[in-house]
Amino acid sequence: MSDDKQGAAWDKLGELAKTVGAGKIRDLINGDPDRSQRMVKSGAGITLDYARQRIDDEVLQTLLQLADERGVLERRDAMFRGDHINVTEDRAVLHTALRLPEGAQLNVDGQDVAGDVHKVLAKMANFSDRIRSGEWTGHTGKRIKNVVNVGIGGSDLGPVMAYMALRDYADRDMTFRFVSNVDGTDLVESVTGLDPAETVFIIASKTFTTLETMTNAAAARDWVKTGLGQDVDVAKHFVAVSTNANGVADFGIDTENMFPFWDWVGGRYSMDSAIGLSTMVAVGPENFRDMLAGFHEMDEHFRTAEPSDNLPLLMGLLSVWNRNFLNCPTNAVLPYEQYLVRFPAYLQQLTMESNGKSVKLDGSAVESETGPIYWGEPGTNGQHSFYQLIHQGTSVIPCDVLFGIKTLNNLGKQHDYLVASALGQAAVFAMGRTADEVRADGVEERLVPAKVMPGNRPCSVITYEVLSPRTLGRLVALYEHTVFTTGAIWGIDSFDQWGVELGKAMANSLVPQLVDGAPAPQTQDAATTASVARYRELGG
Ligand code: F6P
Repeated sequence: MSDDKQGAAWDKLGELAKTVGAGKIRDLINGDPDRSQRMVKSGAGITLDYARQRIDDEVLQTLLQLADERGVLERRDAMFRGDHINVTEDRAVLHTALRLPEGAQLNVDGQDVAGDVHKVLAKMANFSDRIRSGEWTGHTGKRIKNVVNVGIGGSDLGPVMAYMALRDYADRDMTFRFVSNVDGTDLVESVTGLDPAETVFIIASKTFTTLETMTNAAAARDWVKTGLGQDVDVAKHFVAVSTNANGVADFGIDTENMFPFWDWVGGRYSMDSAIGLSTMVAVGPENFRDMLAGFHEMDEHFRTAEPSDNLPLLMGLLSVWNRNFLNCPTNAVLPYEQYLVRFPAYLQQLTMESNGKSVKLDGSAVESETGPIYWGEPGTNGQHSFYQLIHQGTSVIPCDVLFGIKTLNNLGKQHDYLVASALGQAAVFAMGRTADEVRADGVEERLVPAKVMPGNRPCSVITYEVLSPRTLGRLVALYEHTVFTTGAIWGIDSFDQWGVELGKAMANSLVPQLVDGAPAPQTQDAATTASVARYRELGG
């Protein structure tokens, strides 16, 4: 594979980085009044305003040329078609099939993908309706009031994020909890106050081998048995979401109560598969289908919109510009929407497990920088915490500012205040405040340097009408395809995650030493052996 830092577009972007990239966003905005109309694009119900990015039309055209040279659209089409674009795992990447409308046709590797998706959705809907209506009762005949999702990574972050995002649409008479950490505190605190007779656990694990989830599932089963008796019918309190039917059966869950998905759904791309069962129980099948429709709208936009109007493509290219040409190592996501409180955490896995890679599809080393660090918190809270560093720190941090045009909770003028904060911060990110402007405010001279705001922080403003299941689907798909675009430019496999495996193996190899006091193997490094010994000496 060719050097990823070569090619006509890459070279030209390198030159443009020395001119446009070294310039000021403030000058770009002030010198081009039309920019704020031109650099705004809408698609699938989302509007992307990128006028505050440190680009001009030439940079944008060259980024689009880069996408062309790197075959991003061909790779996109290969993904939608079901080609095995996850090369290291030799798998198709078909999360887009999870939201195909009923009746759509997609056969891949001999599987009726679309048909299978809708069969599982129907099974999920049936379960959700039975729980929500009270028809599904627990061992003692009591109605189920609590749903506890046990999973980690993609089997947790999407469900938690979606539940938090869609609380306004959720059944308020039910309680939803999410257990992920192998730290026993997580399970204990999650079941505190719940009656096992009224509780169903959803054990969500693609592989059904993950240490944390299997350990928590066993502890949950013990909790149910302790509460309801050893002869309890656990089938009434446990269902599973997995690709591993044997693992589910071995655990003791009736595979009739298993909701399958497939190896072509990556964990971090699975919140709209059966992994979203807790979401469906919370908001009901109709809202869940509405969320899928939102995903599909963005898929169609990504698949068919002209490159210069294509939101995920544009966002991905801007991310490449900021990462590789402006040398920004991180990207903040700042939703001015309290319901999106877990959206940044969700995006951490989506973006960083996907694009935290150092080798290309052919195994050769990546020459350019890859995945930026994604992080963030809802505004306005972040303003009173880490925004100081964004505004005046020595690193330039591009920001995504998100908000709804309307709110679900209209308290007087509070939504206008929220939007004022979002746009006010975006203005400061982009425009800053010069020393002369600070002086013009009458600030005494010794304080002028401290009050100068460098600005020039690239910023995108992403808006939607109102947060709904459909909006959430559109937003998640927007970021999924943004991640796809950047990964395609870098020529990496955005769909494997080999980097997490060795840590898991190391933890497993330490279990005998920590649990049974087994001696350390000769091959173990001295630092680890000493730490284990110290833990024991200190009474651990
Ligand atoms: O450790 C990383 C990972 O493999 C993620 O990719 C995945 O989302 C998570 O673990 C959970 O895996 P599983 O759903 O198989 O339990």
